[in-house]
Order: sequence, then C-alpha cells, then structure tokens
Amino acid sequence: MDVIIVNDNIEGCKLGAKIIADIVRRKNNAVLGLATGKTPIPLYDELVRLHNNESLDFSNVTSFNLDEYYKVPFTNEGSYHYFMNHHLFSKINIKKENTHVPNGMVDDVERECIEYEESIKKHGGIDIQLLGIGRDGHIGFNEPSCSLASRTRLEALMEDTREANISDFGKLELVPYYAITMGVGTIMEAKEIVLLAFGESKQDAVKGLVEGAISSMCPASILQMHPNVKIIIDNVAAKKLTKVDFYKAKFKITRL
Ligand code: GLP
Repeated sequence: MDVIIVNDNIEGCKLGAKIIADIVRRKNNAVLGLATGKTPIPLYDELVRLHNNESLDFSNVTSFNLDEYYKVPFTNEGSYHYFMNHHLFSKINIKKENTHVPNGMVDDVERECIEYEESIKKHGGIDIQLLGIGRDGHIGFNEPSCSLASRTRLEALMEDTREANISDFGKLELVPYYAITMGVGTIMEAKEIVLLAFGESKQDAVKGLVEGAISSMCPASILQMHPNVKIIIDNVAAKKLTKVDFYKAKFKITRL
C-alpha cells in the first residue's frame, strides 16, 4: 500500500487523473473502474481537460461503475447514472455502450448483479479501480460488517451513509435505503486501485484503512491485502496516521 500525502484535493485529484491517463495511453482498450461522490469530481474535471487539451482518447476505453442507488430513475440528479453522464461521459469521447453502471431500476436484481460480474470478466477484468471512502470506511456501498469476499449485490445503506449523501437528493427522506454495489471481493480483483480521501470527515476512515486491523467493520481495510494500491490523501485526512514520515520517505522512491 503506497500512502501518498498531498497538500489538497486538487493536487490529489490531478495525480489520480495522471495515473488513470497513463493507463489509458499505455493500454489501447483499458478497463476503468469508476466511482462517484464529491471526492473524485476534480479528477473527472482533469480527465476532461486532458481529453480536450492533450488528446486523451477514450474511444476504446470501457468503464464499470462501483454502484448505483436502488430504484432511482437515471434522470434523477441524485442517481449515479446522472452523475457520471454529467461529470464525465458527456464530456469525453467514451462510447456510451462501453460505459457500465449497475441498473438499480431492474426487477430482477440478482440477475443484474450476476450479469454485471460476468461483463467485467468478459472485458478481461478492471485495469484500474478508482475509489473514494465513506466516513465509516465503506468502499462502493459495502457497509461495515459486510463480507470481505462479497460480490456485486443489493446492499442496505447505513443511516450515517444516507445522511452523508443528503446533498445528492436534497433531504434525508429522499435518500434511498438500498443500492446495488460491486462487492469487496469484486473490487479486490482489480489489477490496480487508487483511493482518494480528503478532509477532516475522512480522518477515522483513513486511519482504519491504512493503520487499522483488517476488519469487516472497516471494509476498506482489506485493501491492505491488495498488491497494488495507492492511497492519495491530503494532510488533513492524514492527521490521525502515526507513520507519516515513513509514507513520505517511501513516496520519494515510488515511481508513478
Ligand atoms: C458514496 C459512494 C462511495 C463514495 C462515498 C464518499 O457512499 N457510494 O463510492 O466513496 O459516497 O463520498 P464523498 O466522496 O462524497 O465523500
């Protein structure tokens, strides 16, 4: 696990975008795992800038999103379909048919989840998975106590997560209680993972993720078992970490 401590979210998101752009340039048909939330928005802005100004080409790229709210129409501004179209897909030359976001509107959820997993496999797996982290240590919508081997499925959202996501829907009563999410086991199969976390509200989650014991009570902590993970955090999110000097020294010899 490489812990990369930056000054602020903009610096961190530019670095994250560079890591993703390098893969898109290097591998003609890269498969990207994408995330939603406020955290990665500047990263998507930077990918759009690289597309417009530096000819970053997404025409052969395939994407799979982590999650989607259950029974929220794609036209709802809180849905992750809407989010991805708004922040990224409509602004770059990715083919619509190459983008995948779990469909929370289906009746047969189990089948949707199985097909999502199969589709990831059919495309050769995810080359790089982008992640944010919830205040309670969740990744995707894998909430504390979930199986660390879980696959794509319907998951219930914790109250704290619903409250954290009020801004997507305007008020708590409108925030869904369920979502379809890639499982922790699904995420762990990505060849490379980049997780972004910034600000005070993520300090405890980052502490659990980087220096805590591996536990389903902090699902992100399983990333300690992944061979190729970069955790990009700002000084504020890093506040509760005890080995900051070591992480900074190690970063000096990390090739990005
Ligand atoms: C939601 C998403 C996660 C995201 C988290 C944090 O729960 N399902 O993928 O990491 O929110 O969001 P934010 O970046 O807005 O703090």
